Amino acid sequence: MADPDTITARIPASCPASISQILYHAWHHDLAGLKPLLNVPGRASVQEPTTGETPLHAAIRACAPVNRSTLDDDDAEVVERAKAVVHELFMSGAIWNDVDDHDETPACIAERLGLKDLYALCVGAGVRAELLFGLLNGYEQLDSDDEDSDEEEEKGQEGKGEENIDATGEKEEEEAQIIVDSDPDRAFVPRKKAVGPDVNSADYLRSSLTYSDGKLVDSSQNGVMMAWETSIMRASLTSLLPSLPPGRRILNIGFGMGIIDSMFAGTQPSKHHIIEAHPAVLSHIATSPESRFGPEWEASGPSAGAFKVHAGRWQDVVPQLLDQGELYDAIYFDTFGEDYGQLRMFFTEYVPALLEEQGRFGFFNGLGADRKICYDVYTQVVEMHLSDAGMDVEWQELDVDMEGLQKEGEGEWQGVKRRYWTLDKYRLPTCTLMG
Ligand SMILES: C[S@@+](CC[C@H](N)C(=O)[O-])C[C@H]1O[C@@H](n2cnc3c(N)ncnc32)[C@H](O)[C@@H]1O
Repeated sequence: MADPDTITARIPASCPASISQILYHAWHHDLAGLKPLLNVPGRASVQEPTTGETPLHAAIRACAPVNRSTLDDDDAEVVERAKAVVHELFMSGAIWNDVDDHDETPACIAERLGLKDLYALCVGAGVRAELLFGLLNGYEQLDSDDEDSDEEEEKGQEGKGEENIDATGEKEEEEAQIIVDSDPDRAFVPRKKAVGPDVNSADYLRSSLTYSDGKLVDSSQNGVMMAWETSIMRASLTSLLPSLPPGRRILNIGFGMGIIDSMFAGTQPSKHHIIEAHPAVLSHIATSPESRFGPEWEASGPSAGAFKVHAGRWQDVVPQLLDQGELYDAIYFDTFGEDYGQLRMFFTEYVPALLEEQGRFGFFNGLGADRKICYDVYTQVVEMHLSDAGMDVEWQELDVDMEGLQKEGEGEWQGVKRRYWTLDKYRLPTCTLMG
């Protein structure tokens, strides 16, 4: 079989001349020849109609070993020339997360070929694009009472469901689809994912749920929470409550399988508040024989209301907690079916007021977790937004045991619609208020 990274495989003879011309210049790192072609808006993001090759894909893929002999320069020079072309393409509006017919973005190719500098250029472009995307969409202005806003939410944020940030990538793909009809430069149709991210908060909260076999799934078989995440929950707890004496005040948003709440309960807190919105989860908490957070637990607190499950969406409950003057030493956030804008709203508008001066805030970091480039982009985006909110973040990189997590529909993913986690490293955030 021909090497899939060769120019003949990527730019077939059938490619329209107006597109192949740009792709050839990009592939051969001919900056001088390419620049004038990019003067027309949109030309930096043309796509070969059958392979989905963009000029970014071409410029990066040309650095593959199989192509080196066709380029005159030595390896280092090839990469330098590719960097100049990729930079120019981004400056001309090239799209950082277009996927080709192998479901690879330009950054995925750079990663696969070990081209770190080119990968870093893609991350930088992704961060700029996503910051702009956030501004244009006014995430922070989302009205939690607005039904329309809810309907627009994707399961972006946690990765459990969307994926978000591929979640965001998905949005951009949708936008690209709209352009397709009228724009022959963007006629490539990406392979549809077998299972798309169609979760939104309103639908999720109305759906029925099933607890079984170490997982919690909704009626569409979306994985809401899975037991393989236990080690992440354990590490999150340790980062939030590092060798502190008992008696901490804890707020956890999103009960799920109660994994982290069971761990929190084991630290002998003086206050342990849980916010949970889904009726089925609330019923599980109150009545399941496996639940340890029912009425007896609530009554066992050191004072009235110290141990409590607050029923409702955090968007409605948190303002009440603020009115009551509640303060916490540790706050953890892990919801489902909500987009990144909701997480951002939580840590921007509420965490600074709810967190004790020396307290710690953490969240399940599944942002973009179905693709490394998206995960890397969102690490930087969320760090900037946390900084805007007056918070420092420290990242701890954890190994994820990928045994049973490698294949869609198999192992842990059996009976789960979408493999929302694909990475062997988890980046755990520990956030503190700036001094
Ligand atoms: C991923 S699970 C949490 C898992 C949990 N960290 C654990 O250790 O088992 C997400 C939970 O958030 C809840 N949830 C989703 N949206 C919510 C909202 N707006 N307010 C409160 N809870 C919400 C879901 O019903 C679900 O129980």
